[in-house]
Amino acid sequence: MNPLDRRKFVSAVGAGAVGVFATGNMVVGQSRAEAQEPGAHKVQALKYPYDALQGISKQVVTWHHDKHYAGYVKKRNAIEQQLIDNGPGTDNFDARIYAGLKRSESFSASGMILHEVYFDNLGGDGKPGDGTVEWLIKRCFGSMDKWMTDMKTIGGQATGWALCCWDPSDGRMHNYLVDQHEIGAVWAAKPIIALDVFEHAYYHDQGPNRGKYLDAFFDNLHWGRINERYAG
Ligand SMILES: [Fe+2]
Repeated sequence: MNPLDRRKFVSAVGAGAVGVFATGNMVVGQSRAEAQEPGAHKVQALKYPYDALQGISKQVVTWHHDKHYAGYVKKRNAIEQQLIDNGPGTDNFDARIYAGLKRSESFSASGMILHEVYFDNLGGDGKPGDGTVEWLIKRCFGSMDKWMTDMKTIGGQATGWALCCWDPSDGRMHNYLVDQHEIGAVWAAKPIIALDVFEHAYYHDQGPNRGKYLDAFFDNLHWGRINERYAG
């Protein structure tokens, strides 16, 4: 790595590190008034019209956002209340039932979070710019094409998600394979781009041709919001 590249790489990693620590500070450092009560998660509105995507229909976006994603928010809220009502020290407490609720909590919370990344990173023209995320992807994968090929390979095999994450354990971008919503997660790695490959994301539009959906996903990426997520 030449000195210029090294400075830019350190600068980019530093920005990511600030982002991660800032995210952590939302829990540790935010004001007490901002810490929400259990069961108070809210559905985040789409930032673009339901019919704005190319190759992903208004019907699929509507079902996906209003039914599937909203369902995870609702389920997470319900589980958080159930954990309170059935937790240690309550009359209803049963350790095995409680453990099942905790597993459901991880599934539903992860489903909610990843869908919010997914909908947020769509709605653009798919054209990468010269942002820090694009620079990091090229630095870590060799080229945008190599990165995309890797994401599509993972997306073709996962039963859940292909995630492009910034990982503070080595300061690099990684594409991780996640089955369901939580199986394969890497601790502290921050999802920057989330590719949903559940059949509900594409089957109505593309049938069994998942590859056509993968192409559509990348054609709709919003690189501006992707860079905001990395920085934030
Ligand atoms: Fe989904």
